[in-house]
Amino acid sequence: MPITVPPLSRRKFVSGTMGLAGAAALTPLLSADDSKTEVPLDNDRVALLADTHISADPKQFYYGTKWPGTPVKDGEHEGVNMADCLAAVVKDVLAQNPLPAHAVVNGDCALSNGKPEEYQEFIRLIKPLRQAGITVHVTIGNHDNRQRLWKAIPEFKSEELGRQVGVVELPKANFVLLDSDRGTMGEEQFNWLDKTLAALGDKPVIGFGHYHPYPHFGVRPGPGQRDGASLLPVLKKHKNLKAYCYGHTHNWVVEQKSDIHFINQLPVSYYFAKGLPHGWVDMKLGDTGAEIEMRCVNANHAQHKERHTLNWRKG
Ligand SMILES: [Fe+2]
Repeated sequence: MPITVPPLSRRKFVSGTMGLAGAAALTPLLSADDSKTEVPLDNDRVALLADTHISADPKQFYYGTKWPGTPVKDGEHEGVNMADCLAAVVKDVLAQNPLPAHAVVNGDCALSNGKPEEYQEFIRLIKPLRQAGITVHVTIGNHDNRQRLWKAIPEFKSEELGRQVGVVELPKANFVLLDSDRGTMGEEQFNWLDKTLAALGDKPVIGFGHYHPYPHFGVRPGPGQRDGASLLPVLKKHKNLKAYCYGHTHNWVVEQKSDIHFINQLPVSYYFAKGLPHGWVDMKLGDTGAEIEMRCVNANHAQHKERHTLNWRKG
């Protein structure tokens, strides 16, 4: 089971039921408040976030563009206040109607190395999502520390293979959340994934992991997950696996390989080249695919509301 932060209030659902896996963790923490004015939740709609990089200091500013070897010219570096970015994304998610019933933060919740204070601040910033009835799921990124994350929210600690992996069942798809640690998943996790995908049957599956499973050639190139070459055949083998979402590069890419849709989520926070988008992804699940829409923090960004239709491969 992944870390799943339950909602703080009960809401009305416009589709399906709550996720089955993790049902115990989804129990609301506060008493119900089902007023008729509340915006309903949609179990077929999911907010995808990645790389929030929250600092213990809500005033912390960071130049994502300023790294050794950056092609950005001096004086043109761009940076962001990470807390403001997450607050803006949370606000935009909450402006949707119906609301996504689930949100997945695909790694790098923390700025440095997963300090307790960073997680306290992260929890504070996502609280409005929970108060709106949205269930939040989190994967582990290379700036996270799963032990300290578990300690920060002990009631949701859930461990498999010493890692943070699990399945979230939604009406139209199963999400399999994986733990790419600091660049490796390991043989044990690949075996677990192989067995899990085989057991999940024909229902579409979307995989989530923080690292890019193959080399990235964007503005800041990188080889990605060191054992990504062992992950890809497992994804390819199971035809129920339709899409895979990852973060880490802080770059937006939507592509298809072996009929699998790969979505490189844009970061919530900083980016590595001048003018790149940051924000979140609005995913609407259908019976034979999904619609995704990029939502930029900067609503004037040229790519704001960029849409893609993902059609699931057969089988
Ligand atoms: Fe990151």
